[in-house]
Amino acid sequence: PKTHHFDWNIHYADGAPDGYAKRQIMINGQAPGPTIECNEGDEIVVMVHNHLDVGTGIHWHGMFQNSTPYMDGIPGFTQCPIPAGGSFEYRFRVQGQFGTYWYHSHEAVQYTDGLYGPLIVHSPNDPYQQGRDYDDEIIILLADNYHDYADKIVREMLSPAGYKGTPAAPSPQSALINGRGVFNCSMAEHKSRCADLKTPTRSVVPGKTYRLRIINGGSHAFNYVSIDGHMLDVIAADGTPIFKQSVHRIPLHNGQRYDALVTMDVGEPGDSFLLRSFIETSCFAVVDPALDPTANLTLQYQFFPEEPVSSPVPRDWSDMNNSNNTGCVDFSDDLLTPLIPQTVPENKNPDGVGKFITGFGFMNISSTQRVGRFFVNGTSYVNYINRPFLESVHRGGAINPAQITSMTFNDDVWVADIILVNTDVIDHPYHLHGVESHIIGRGSGNLTVEEWKTKSFNTINPPRRDTIVVPQKTWAVLRVFSDNPGVWAMHCHIAFHLAGGFMGAVVIHPEAIKQLPYPSSVLDLCPTDAASLNTIEVP
Ligand code: C2O
Repeated sequence: PKTHHFDWNIHYADGAPDGYAKRQIMINGQAPGPTIECNEGDEIVVMVHNHLDVGTGIHWHGMFQNSTPYMDGIPGFTQCPIPAGGSFEYRFRVQGQFGTYWYHSHEAVQYTDGLYGPLIVHSPNDPYQQGRDYDDEIIILLADNYHDYADKIVREMLSPAGYKGTPAAPSPQSALINGRGVFNCSMAEHKSRCADLKTPTRSVVPGKTYRLRIINGGSHAFNYVSIDGHMLDVIAADGTPIFKQSVHRIPLHNGQRYDALVTMDVGEPGDSFLLRSFIETSCFAVVDPALDPTANLTLQYQFFPEEPVSSPVPRDWSDMNNSNNTGCVDFSDDLLTPLIPQTVPENKNPDGVGKFITGFGFMNISSTQRVGRFFVNGTSYVNYINRPFLESVHRGGAINPAQITSMTFNDDVWVADIILVNTDVIDHPYHLHGVESHIIGRGSGNLTVEEWKTKSFNTINPPRRDTIVVPQKTWAVLRVFSDNPGVWAMHCHIAFHLAGGFMGAVVIHPEAIKQLPYPSSVLDLCPTDAASLNTIEVP
């Protein structure tokens, strides 16, 4: 196994992802940041220098952080923020995992403005291999783009007046693929800040098969991805290889990844086909009238042996409407059968079950003013700068129930069920850190713990992935092997909902957390004076 060293300077920079100038947050001059690529078993070391004027923390989405929960990267939760002007070294080993992941800031909505990037893990254990199943790889990192600075959006959204008059999460102005999009400048709020961009082109070799690694690194938008005239063979959901499924288009909610094989065998050299990422606008409560929901990448069949000289007009072989799914809902679970089977044990242990009931509501902030927020078991998460939850438990303390709801699986519990109930009128992408989620059941309405006791679940090779869509007014049950001590986040991956309090904590093996060899570099991030540890940071 190798160790991969990265040195990252995080800074503000002027960018124009879709042609409209805005302030972004970049890594070493790039947004999205550099791609991390490694092999299973390797160690990743990232030195982060924070040149912002606020704190930050980087999360490695989907990495389980086995025995290194303090490297999970959530400010206020698993560490104190890396302070403005400060540095911190993340160091962790990629154990027992491979596939398509990503990283992003887990502080407020910093990743919405560019602080995110791909994390790819290769492995001889991957049943789909380059050289046999495909010839080359293409990373497709999706995002939604907001012309306003995201932190400003959130501050207004969580104020009594709301953002543009509503407490609802905003709609973006454009879609991005690998950080690039297009926008119709005639719709721009300040036309002098806008330039019309062209759709980027990537050449592909006729006859070759590509593995697309598609990541939805967006903050609110649900996307469909398709390639005109080509079928996509889906081979992995998040980090889990699945039995191949041929589809016309792939739905992804925030945080989700799908890998798909596509063979370039329907055109002639010089032909072009659009890879389309399309934002499903019906998933938003409010839609910005200027929104252009499409981001395209022109795939041009290479002239062989010459390089392509021009971009022909893309053939319109669109089959966007030919689909096996509609609305803002994920593939159904029966399309996601893992290729490496796992049977999960039965679980009737009353100490091995917990429940998160989530929904939208209003919080009174004075006798006359209220703000919209999300609640998990009645609590809306607020990020105070105090001892991070993980460190509190490590020191033998407790998690402040006024700040976040938590469930605890004690050191004698090895299999645990987490019941997720979505009482909202929209679908949410739920993401669990630290342990692998097996989706063993779903249903409509609520599921009580009494009903859970007598219900039979799908324990024979159920789908497993780290981010699942729970549709409105339904429940889902995740069964996990609770063998990785830590305080793990469960949250909605819509960045604006997370910022509005949509997060709970799962404490696994608190006695083992006390025994963790805790690096002093992590402890040193926290200020030592008690007063500064109890200031409220965000509304
Ligand atoms: Cu991708 Cu808790 O996040």
